[in-house]
Amino acid sequence: MEKDRKTAVITGASRGIGRAIAETLVQNGYRLAMIARNRADLDELSQRLGGYVIALPISADLTDLKNVETACSSVLENFGTVDLLVNNAGSIYFEPSVSMPVERFEETIRLNLTAPWLMARLLIPAMIKAGGGTVVNIVSMSARDGFKNAAAYCASKAGLSGLTRAMREEFKEKGIKFCEILPGSTLTSEAPEKYFKDNPEAEILLPEDVARAVLAVALQGAHSAIRTIELTRPFNRKVAPLIRP
Ligand SMILES: NC(=O)c1ccc[n+]([C@@H]2O[C@H](COP(=O)([O-])OP(=O)(O)OC[C@H]3O[C@@H](n4cnc5c(N)ncnc54)[C@H](OP(=O)(O)O)[C@@H]3O)[C@@H](O)[C@H]2O)c1
Repeated sequence: MEKDRKTAVITGASRGIGRAIAETLVQNGYRLAMIARNRADLDELSQRLGGYVIALPISADLTDLKNVETACSSVLENFGTVDLLVNNAGSIYFEPSVSMPVERFEETIRLNLTAPWLMARLLIPAMIKAGGGTVVNIVSMSARDGFKNAAAYCASKAGLSGLTRAMREEFKEKGIKFCEILPGSTLTSEAPEKYFKDNPEAEILLPEDVARAVLAVALQGAHSAIRTIELTRPFNRKVAPLIRP
């Protein structure tokens, strides 16, 4: 029965890492709510994954915090509860600090940091009622290392890392697990092939690599929790062959 599946909410599910997470979770018995702006992309993915009952599309611009509330209401109306929240949607703009418009800085913080906080606080009460749940925040190695010309992005990701640890402390007695996953550069539209050509030292992960890390977090039993995953290539394999292994 589809209703017996565990439920997951994935933001930014339509492309890249989020899409790989959606595919992996459905293959492993989850029912999904998938959030992104582009409805056509979500509908196409939903059809591929088995239709609305398995993969419910919800279009929302998460930089608009009212939209975050509406999306969470829609999740709770349809599912009643949520076992796993994956805060994955995020964006990066490369621009020197001196020329980056303040609005763009604030928009990056809203999408990459405020929206995950709001998603968690709106869905956690239902998780607590059901006896527990897991929140996975997709951070980035840039939260530790910093990227040139990406101050807003790095600040938002460092903030998301701190948020993960603070909310873990806040909700640990309520059975809510929090994990931060810090992927290195991953081949998606956020870091397309051109990026790797311009940065030949970068190590490329594939979206499926990050999806497997999310699944590992979700598969932990009641007595264990994965708190942090730093995901990189196992050794310094140069990018040169831009091909899937
Ligand atoms: N790629 C990397 O190298 C890398 C490395 C470390 C961490 N990450 C992090 O991993 C996450 C996913 O990255 P990705 O590379 O897979 O990105 P991506 O290919 O650009 O996909 C971004 C996803 O987020 C959605 N999205 C973007 N803006 C949104 C908004 N305002 N409201 C709702 N949804 C929005 C997009 O759909 P719509 O456009 O339809 O809204 C899409 O589904 C991000 O948080 C990113 O920072 C990426």
